[in-house]
Amino acid sequence: MNNNYNNNRPPRNGGSRQQNPGNRPQNGGRGQNMPVNGVPRQQGAQYQYNRPVGNPQYPPVRHRSRKQAQRAAGMVVLLAVILVMLLVSVIIFAARCATGFGGAVDTDSETTSDVMGFSSDTATDTAAAVITDPVVTEPPETELDAAYEYVTKSAEDVHRGYQILVNYQNPYNFDGGFKLGTLYGAKNGCYKVSNTTDSLDTAALRSFADMMSAISQNTAVIGEETVKMDDIIITSSDRTYEFQEQLYGARVDQYGEEYASLYVAMPGHSEHHTGLALDLAIYTDGGHSYTFDDIDEYPTWLKANAHKFGFVERYQADKTAITKIAYENWHYRYIGKPHAFYITANGLCLEEYIDLLRGFTFNGKHLAITDDEGCSWEMYFVPAGDAQSTDVPVPKHFSWEISGNNVDGFIVTVKKS
Ligand code: DAL
Ligand code: ZN
Repeated sequence: MNNNYNNNRPPRNGGSRQQNPGNRPQNGGRGQNMPVNGVPRQQGAQYQYNRPVGNPQYPPVRHRSRKQAQRAAGMVVLLAVILVMLLVSVIIFAARCATGFGGAVDTDSETTSDVMGFSSDTATDTAAAVITDPVVTEPPETELDAAYEYVTKSAEDVHRGYQILVNYQNPYNFDGGFKLGTLYGAKNGCYKVSNTTDSLDTAALRSFADMMSAISQNTAVIGEETVKMDDIIITSSDRTYEFQEQLYGARVDQYGEEYASLYVAMPGHSEHHTGLALDLAIYTDGGHSYTFDDIDEYPTWLKANAHKFGFVERYQADKTAITKIAYENWHYRYIGKPHAFYITANGLCLEEYIDLLRGFTFNGKHLAITDDEGCSWEMYFVPAGDAQSTDVPVPKHFSWEISGNNVDGFIVTVKKS
């Protein structure tokens, strides 16, 4: 290693260090009485070595006084103490590093956390870090921690639950186990329906009605008028395979397959099959229809607040390359509160989120979040493997929920507080 410090430094008194190995001029080629760093050299300074011209290897011997000898001895002791301290520090540091790597294996059930507060700026930073640098941890072979127990899930359960990913690659299996209720039946005066049969999963339905109550507290400008925002109408919610087939076929006939499939999912691949998705528009008391592109206040409010009710805007403008669906600011999907919160705060789409969760295994790091209402949650992924059933570890002392991801495993959501 080229060490400039050694190369330029004059030897200590009596030192035998080889000087100037690179044959560089000492002190930048200045004479011995020239200034160093702008400070004039002091003549006769105690430890300054004035190199004798023509005899670089043998500096002159100095005769020390008793006092000088004592001082020199003191210096030696001091140097020795510093050396010992340095050595001890190095040993301690090395020991800590070793414990850190081993510790990860020992703390198999410890739920180390990536805690995220709700602030859109920091949230975006966190997302960038998470996406580009995912946490991937191999599970150690350990006994189940006493704070957990197993729940056995079947292979079919991979396709059931609020966090299922339904898209062009992952069809819905039409056996999600959702219990549907009609949007008409849950009507609370804060939204409108286009028929009496459109339905949603009952948990999604309750949350949707609450969301409509909340948005109706606001006002929008429609034409000349400032109106209460209670004019959302559900234009579509649950769909059978056959209905999606009709929609898809009609759109293909009209626009061709490539364009049609940007707006209508292939039959079997639509979120509308699940009872967790719905399309929204605006219908005023005066009988006027608008889309979300016509009146900003509605989509703006929903983009900022839907996650508080467990919904996400599913097809964002900047995610079309991933979702393969065009920007649809009217299509909302229920996924559950902590998940909707994390997705929204980090600007993810569902595909990215499902991928990200695979990095948070039971035996590795868990994804821990504190939502904007101060509730703490923890999520982890349990791969299903090829077996007909999977034992999914769940905590004994916290409430939890298991959902399949509709691809390859289970997402466990734990409510910590
Ligand atoms: N409009 C969405 C993509 C669907 O058809 O499911
Ligand atoms: Zn839709």
